[in-house]
Amino acid sequence: MVSLPDSSSTAPDSGSLPIDLNRRLLNRYRYLEHEILQILAGWMPAIGHFETKCEAGRSIWECALHVNAFYLRLREIQSPAFQRPDDPALVRLATELRHAPDEHALAGGIYRVVFPALIQALANHERATFPNSDLPSVYAIQHAQLDLRAQQERVLPLLAAVDAGRPASPASEVWEHYIRALLDAAGGVSGLAPRAAAPATPPERREFTPPREAARDERFTQRGADFAVMPPEDDYRAHTVEEFERYSTEMLAAETVAVVLYGLRDMPWEFQFDSARHLYDEVRHCLMGYEWMRRNGLDPFQSPQYLQVFRWRCQFPPVMQYCMLTMGNEVHAFPYRHRRVEAHEKSGDRLSEQFVRYDIADETQHVRFGHRWLPEMLRHIGETRPVDTYTADVLKVWESEYRTGKLPINVE
Ligand SMILES: [Fe+2]
Ligand SMILES: [Fe+2]
Repeated sequence: MVSLPDSSSTAPDSGSLPIDLNRRLLNRYRYLEHEILQILAGWMPAIGHFETKCEAGRSIWECALHVNAFYLRLREIQSPAFQRPDDPALVRLATELRHAPDEHALAGGIYRVVFPALIQALANHERATFPNSDLPSVYAIQHAQLDLRAQQERVLPLLAAVDAGRPASPASEVWEHYIRALLDAAGGVSGLAPRAAAPATPPERREFTPPREAARDERFTQRGADFAVMPPEDDYRAHTVEEFERYSTEMLAAETVAVVLYGLRDMPWEFQFDSARHLYDEVRHCLMGYEWMRRNGLDPFQSPQYLQVFRWRCQFPPVMQYCMLTMGNEVHAFPYRHRRVEAHEKSGDRLSEQFVRYDIADETQHVRFGHRWLPEMLRHIGETRPVDTYTADVLKVWESEYRTGKLPINVE
């Protein structure tokens, strides 16, 4: 009998982990991170606290990298590679996480309960397996730990600052206690610790429904201002300020990809992997706008947030939102972006030029994702129109409702 409890103070012996248990454990880590990335995508638009929202975006991408690494290893030692664990207690934990009473409780359950236990389980696994025979697992496990420990260092102080800045929240405390009890009932992340009795569901639990409004915290002063006409491009300084202010609002694109990722979570894994990156790229574009504005003495929290765009998109099914984003906004932004690179070069504005060129590199990938996944999505939802016809029909809606609504195309 192998003893590999999550919080063991004595290190398990090297080579004490047999291959059948190894794949069961890897499958549990893969499953938990996979579920958490989907839950964070579902919640992300509803997270108001800006820094936590950005961290959620980063976690979605990093979880996707870990899931992919575990998947690449699992497909070598089990078939099919993706398997739902045959442990109802673990499935209940992963299912319940999304029904947090609020965004802070959600983050507490994930970052203060599940991820620390996952780190401990990975560390134990790394020590217990055969270092040479199982090196490919060790490699994946070591890299996941590096990310997860760095994430703890960034996120725990953020959550502590939220705690310190508001009255004690019994709902968050009850929720974290509940998630910890669910984890104990599953025998920890490994499933090998002694199992506690399953906890009762607390009244604080709130059934999760995907948000149709994007949340912003109280630091944002302009949530739904109309798009103003941008200064002409030949007014270099005034136009550039607006250009980067628009980047700072690209959280809207991240939130749209989050809706698509959550709404189409039964699509093939490679789609989820690409979309997790797409989503986090848009968070990075938003942060690029923040960085530029701050370097130029401007406060990005004062930027209009155009939350009506998110509300408008949410009227449409996820596939249509994805088509409008990739084949509308993203495809059409390139001529403008290339003109901006030229203008920044001509003005000797190296920072702006570099920022836009990195953006172009990311956006090229996003359009490629659109071309790759739209045909698959149409099959997935049983759409019978050919891709070209479907896209043309969707773009008619985009042209008539988005572009004529004073919403410029060079956003996102
Ligand atoms: Fe994009
Ligand atoms: Fe973008």
